[in-house]
Parts: sequence; structure tokens; C-alpha cells
Amino acid sequence: MWVWCGLALIAAILVITLASHEHFQNPTAVEQELTPSEALAPVETDTSSLRDLADRHSISVGAAVLMDPFRKDEEYQTILTREFNSLTPENAMKFARLHPERDRYNFVDAADLVTFAQNHQMDVHGHVLVWHRNLPDWLTETEWSREELMAVLQQHIYTVVGRFRGQVDSWDVVNEAIDVEQKDQLRESIWLNVIGPEYIQLAFRWAHEADPDAQLFYNDYKGEDLGRKSDAIYQLVRDLVQQGVPIHGVGLQMHTSIKDAPDPRDVAENMRRLNDLELTVKITEMDVQIHGVDRPEAELFLNQKQVYQDMMQTCLNAENCSGLTTWGVSDQYSWIPYYFERPDAPLLFDEEYQSKPAYDGLVEELMRL
Ligand code: G3I
Repeated sequence: MWVWCGLALIAAILVITLASHEHFQNPTAVEQELTPSEALAPVETDTSSLRDLADRHSISVGAAVLMDPFRKDEEYQTILTREFNSLTPENAMKFARLHPERDRYNFVDAADLVTFAQNHQMDVHGHVLVWHRNLPDWLTETEWSREELMAVLQQHIYTVVGRFRGQVDSWDVVNEAIDVEQKDQLRESIWLNVIGPEYIQLAFRWAHEADPDAQLFYNDYKGEDLGRKSDAIYQLVRDLVQQGVPIHGVGLQMHTSIKDAPDPRDVAENMRRLNDLELTVKITEMDVQIHGVDRPEAELFLNQKQVYQDMMQTCLNAENCSGLTTWGVSDQYSWIPYYFERPDAPLLFDEEYQSKPAYDGLVEELMRL
């Protein structure tokens, strides 16, 4: 008698467990009950911030941070901490800023950002150790021997990565080293010209020695989809992996526009081949220009939303994509209008910090899966 009762109880528990499991495994069971108009209605977005949703997916959503508004504009910090779980110093960790004289470093801005991130439980993506731009005059105006310049770079990397050891989660170690128009497809720079192509692997090895726990990235632009540039990036990082160089990921900058956004299927394929090399990928500098298309603004913003949404979806579907960072917080401080000398609105928040359709696109995508 007791045996039968026991068996019946176990069977009942099993049925209940399986039913609830089925519910979670098959969310369409719920969707099927929606009327068509309910299904088309925008997903409720005001209950969670972007960072809450990203946390649920264990991915980062980040923003590049400029010092000026960071220090002067209270609302900038409010949006930053409410919406993002990661930050990248937009300029504060560049060579000339951190190392203005040969024997002097200035860590004030960078350290303030790192402390701020710690206080608000945000990751820090360090940008950037080796780049051909933003170099101080003392570096570019000296005739260095190969050994001397290697020593300069090694000391810079040891000092900077060592200063933030355990505090910066990931680094753009080498940035924009590819130029497909050049012989060997490597960009002319003081690093290539004086040290030779080995500067790339040396930088990764030194960064790893300075902080063995930091994730080390190669970062570049216009190499998100498939083509000559992404092939060259792929070959470079494949060679590094094969040589045992400590590289952990590839940053896909994703500076794009509604006119020439990459095909998400190609981006997915590119992420997949990098995954085969056991490399993480991260969308590191996303912005989407709307300039140059003759349509009503509301439509441009919907086109922009689609691009952001496509890329978030591609990232979420990829096995190796760890997050998406936008290159700025609000349109007001984007580098795009300044650099191209024309108005644009490439980010998730407008000049009054109102969220744009692009923001809703990311939220909807994060809520869908
Ligand atoms: O905004 C000030 C302006 O008030 C001032 O009058 C003027 C005088 O020079 O400077 C303006 O600041 C400029 C800033 O862009 C505006 O955003 C700086 O001079 C200029 O150096 C700075 O350029 C930065 C650029 O890298 C070069 O370092 C951009 O902020 C930054 O967004 C951009 O970021 C790069 C990444 O590091 C690498 N990938 C591409 C990305 C975009 O170019």
C-alpha cells in the first residue's frame, strides 16, 4: 500500500516538473496565445534597464566615456551607471594621455574612470596600448633604434597594465594594425617601421606578463563582416594563436551607418570562424550614422534601430560574443559630428538623454531570447 502511494507521489512530482520544464523550454507556447495585435505591440521596455537585461544574458553592454561630460554633466553619469555594465575610456588611456613625457605618466583620468567603474559594478575595457595615433611628440620625434623602441613600448605596457592589474578586465592591446593596401597588409607606423611586425606579438606577451588575468584583444574597424579586411585580421590572429601568443579576443569596432551596415549573416560567419580559433569577439565601438539618406527622421531612426538590433541579435546568437559597446553615451558627445564636420545622431540616447528607437531595439532583442 505504502509502496503504491510512494510511486503515485513520485509520478505526480515528475509530471509537474516536466510540465514546468516544457513551459521554459518552449516559450512559443505562451506566444501562441497572443492575438496578432498583441504580438506586434512593442515589447514592454520600461521595467528594465539595458544593463539589467544584459546581466541576465551574462554579456556586457558598454559605452565609451569622455572625460569632459563625465566630470561636468551629472546626467551623463546617471545614464552611464543606469544603462551600462561596462565602460571603455574613449581617450583617457591613449598613449599620449597616459604617458605625456618619457619619464612621466599621468593616471588621473584613467584611474578616476576605473574607480568609478568599480563603485558601480561595471567592467572596464582598456583602450588602447599600441596604436599608430595619439602618440606623444617625445616618442614620434626621436630617432629610435629597434632595441630602444622595444624598451619604450615594453616599459609603457608594463607600467600601464601593471598600474591597473586586476582592475581592467580586458585590453585593446593592438589597435588598427592592418592596412590591406600595404604590402604584407600591415599598417605603416613607428612600431612597424622601427620594431618590425614582431611588435604585435611582443605587445601581447608583455601585456600578459603584466596582468595574466586580463583578456587581451586585437581591435580593428571595417573587419566585422567577410572580406579582405576581415580575412587579413583573421590571418593575423590565427598566426598569433598558432605561435602561442596570449591573445584572447578580437574587437569588432562597428563604426557603421544605415547606408552600409554589414550583413548580419556575414558578421555571424566571421564570429564563427574566430570561435574556431577559440577567440572571443566583442563589438567594441558601435555607432550608426544616419547622415546622407533623404528620408524623414523618424524613418532614419527606425533604420538605425534595425542595425543595432541586428548586431545585438548576431552577438547573442554567437557562441563567443561577450558584449556590445557603443562609442559614446549620447549623440551630444559623439566623435562623429566633430570628425566629419556635419550633424549626425549615431548613438542610443539623443542630446537630451532621451532614449531613441535604437535603444528600444537593443532592449527588445535582449528581452526576446
Ligand atoms: O571636442 C573637442 C573640441 O571641443 C576642441 O575644440 C577640439 C580641439 O582639438 O578637440 C575636440 O576633441 C577632439 C575629440 O576627438 C572630439 O570627440 C580631440 O581633439 C580629438 O583628438 C578626439 O579624437 C578622438 C580620436 O579617437 C583620436 O584619438 C575621438 O574622441 C575618439 O572618439 C576616437 O576614437 C577612435 C578609437 O580610439 C579607435 N577607433 C576609432 C575611433 C574613432 O575615430
